[in-house]
Amino acid sequence: MSFDTTEANRRTAVFDDHDELWLFGYGSLIYKAGFDYIERAPATIEGWVRRYWQGSHDHRGTPHAPGRVVTLVEAPGASCLGMAYRVTPAVFDYLDHREKNGYLRFAQPMTFVDGHTEKGLVYIATPDNAAWLGEAPVEDIAAQVVASTGPSGPNRDYVLNLADALAELDADDAHCQAVAARVRELIVA
Ligand code: SIN
Repeated sequence: MSFDTTEANRRTAVFDDHDELWLFGYGSLIYKAGFDYIERAPATIEGWVRRYWQGSHDHRGTPHAPGRVVTLVEAPGASCLGMAYRVTPAVFDYLDHREKNGYLRFAQPMTFVDGHTEKGLVYIATPDNAAWLGEAPVEDIAAQVVASTGPSGPNRDYVLNLADALAELDADDAHCQAVAARVRELIVA
């Protein structure tokens, strides 16, 4: 698979025929929307966990020195808290470009705080994508993050902004907390 998933997303056109839809954000989309939305609300998706297992060659790193950003990894029984946005398909051009480094559009159910469920869109970078880095010890992930920077800024800002956003949501995410804690230690050392 190519690094650039823009065309694949356009071809599969998941949700293109909807007037409105819910988009689930679990990474930078929580703290930086960057697009117009009708409303937003915290939501969870079941059976997935957030992991710093995706390479970033275009935002928080470079092709020669990729950073690490989050994707969702299947984990039966787990649930992942994020932010859902009610949007129109007008956002797809922007999102397909922003998420082009390996992320594909998927249709997934999401559950809101009041218990109701909606099938919506989520961008996921799966293990078969060309920018996938995979599992690594927290120490190695944090060291890579601290060493990486890209066109969207230092990788450490992504990690610390996401940690703050997850704390604001009261999300219980041991993996992201551990990576952020180690990044904080490394940058003050
Ligand atoms: C997301 O936030 O939903 C996708 C991953 C990212 O852009 O950080």
